[in-house]
Parts: sequence; C-alpha cells; structure tokens
Amino acid sequence: MGLLGGLFGKKKQEPFNFGSLHTDMHSHLIPGIDDGSKDMDDTLRMIEKFMEMGYKRIITTPHIKTGSFDNTSEIIKKGEEDVKNELAKRNIDLDFQAAAEYFFDYTFLEKVEKGDLLTFGQNHILVEYAFGQPPMGAEDMFFQLQMKGYNPILAHFERYVYYHGSVAKAEELRNRNIKIQMNIGSVIGHYGPLVQKQAEKMLKAGVVDYLASDCHRMEHLTLFEAKNQDPLFALVGQQKWLNNRL
Ligand SMILES: [Fe+2]
Repeated sequence: MGLLGGLFGKKKQEPFNFGSLHTDMHSHLIPGIDDGSKDMDDTLRMIEKFMEMGYKRIITTPHIKTGSFDNTSEIIKKGEEDVKNELAKRNIDLDFQAAAEYFFDYTFLEKVEKGDLLTFGQNHILVEYAFGQPPMGAEDMFFQLQMKGYNPILAHFERYVYYHGSVAKAEELRNRNIKIQMNIGSVIGHYGPLVQKQAEKMLKAGVVDYLASDCHRMEHLTLFEAKNQDPLFALVGQQKWLNNRL
C-alpha cells in the first residue's frame, strides 16, 4: 500500500508488534552448523535484535538434513550450551532453547524409530518437506510421530509450490492435529509474489497455527521491521497464534 494508500487516503496499516507473538520457534541461530548464523557474534547480534523486537523466548531450530546439514542432537545441544553460556556471561536474560528443523526423508524416519528427536514445548517437533516435489508417505510419518506421543508442526507450508492455490492440504493436516507454521518472510513477499499469495489465502482461511521468523541472518529481522506495516499484517493480527503456548 505505502505511498499509494496514503495518496488515496486509505487508512495506514498499524505496525505489527512482533513482541505480541512472545515466542519465535523457527530460526537458525546456532553458530556455524547450518546455513544460518556464521559465528557467535552473528548469533548474539540477532538475539539482541529479537529482544529489541519484543520477543521473550527463542526456540532455535538448526537444519538436520542428511547430505546437506548432517547435524546430530549432540551437535545441536552443544551449540545450545555455548550460546547459553555467552548469554549468561553478558547477563542477557532470555529464554533460549534449541531443537531442530527436520527434513523429511528416510534418515528422519530412522531417527523417529530410535526416538532420537529434539523437541520443544509439549513434545513438539518441527518438520519440513522438500521444496521441489510433494512428499511420499508423509501421512504415515505424521501418524508414527503421533503414536509415539510427538506433536508435529509442518514448517512454512506456504512455501511448498505444489500446494499452491489451495488450502485443502493444510486443512486436512490440521484436522489430524498436525499444526501449520508460516514464515513472516512469506507475509511480506520475501519469497516472491506466489508464496505471498498463498500466505494470504491461508491467513484468510485461518489455517495457520504458528508464525515464525525462519531467521538465517540479520537482514531477515531488519526487513521484517522495515515492512511491519505491509497490508497482510492486518490478517496476521486477526489470527489466534499458538506461539506463546509452547
Ligand atoms: Fe528453517
């Protein structure tokens, strides 16, 4: 809207208060283990920015994706410990935890089998699909997770182009108690107009449960702030987000 909205006298969108989400539950803030934070300084600067934006808790979720990011629970836990120590050293009082963003493939199923999974909240687990093609056997995978007492959340549903144009799949998953997460970047068009369109569709249909940063670098956060009056934030403000219930 911006300038045109102003020219035509439309009411300007109120700036979205990110702090109202309380908790961010999808980001890449452990230094040097995936395509997110490069080093501890980078991590600390991003954490400070989150706090400045009003967040009270950060659950960071490094990639676990065989062949690309071969992280283990141990590597992530060690990284979590290092960040927590740095926060303590600086007297930064923030609830900081690490879990993971699991890429859905056969190696993930092996981890499910072994029970080697990093969770957050009430045994929640964050899972992502491939961007290129629809997943095979995802229903079984979610069922297995639920049978073992996990509460699955599907990451950035609006970014899967093979579901674009419909919210039926999101509805189907939610009916089976699988929660849906959306990226803030999608709301502001960071991933392009098609993803933004899908985000709008989903917000209008009310089929989203969590809104998260998926922050990989500082520019993500500064962009969110710069665009906090984008029109879709009107819809964001109307949703019942579950972030603060984790
Ligand atoms: Fe992510």
